[in-house]
Amino acid sequence: MASVTKEKLIELLNKDLGLEYTACVQYTQHQGVLKGAMYQNIQKELIIHAQQELAHATILAAQIDYLKGFPTVEMPLPKASKDNKEMLQQDLAGENDAINRYIARVKQAEELNLYHLAQQLRNILAMEQEHAMDLEQALGE
Ligand SMILES: [Fe+2]
Ligand SMILES: [Fe+2]
Repeated sequence: MASVTKEKLIELLNKDLGLEYTACVQYTQHQGVLKGAMYQNIQKELIIHAQQELAHATILAAQIDYLKGFPTVEMPLPKASKDNKEMLQQDLAGENDAINRYIARVKQAEELNLYHLAQQLRNILAMEQEHAMDLEQALGE
């Protein structure tokens, strides 16, 4: 038996959707605040991340609608700082959380035989890993 119902999965996908909005806003703000030659490369990456998080939100909204759910417009508050390193650490924490959530979500989608959804979630998961790797590189981790 599946560990989640379709209704519960829709609820979890809506939390993921809200967090994609949050990530988009957070990256948009952080790229504007980051300062210094050392951070020029990662600043350009953050602009790309913001666009990709919006693309993830777009995919999730369509998938939630397909499952007969109602895509949320609510989101948790983004994290902000005036310190370059702290901003990147906030972003990395968000990516690691996203990776863990999407690993769980792929499994849950497959348990419900929603292989099309699982495929979309796998694509998002792979991109979140790239985001985490960009941030780890910039943080020298
Ligand atoms: Fe994302
Ligand atoms: Fe991401």
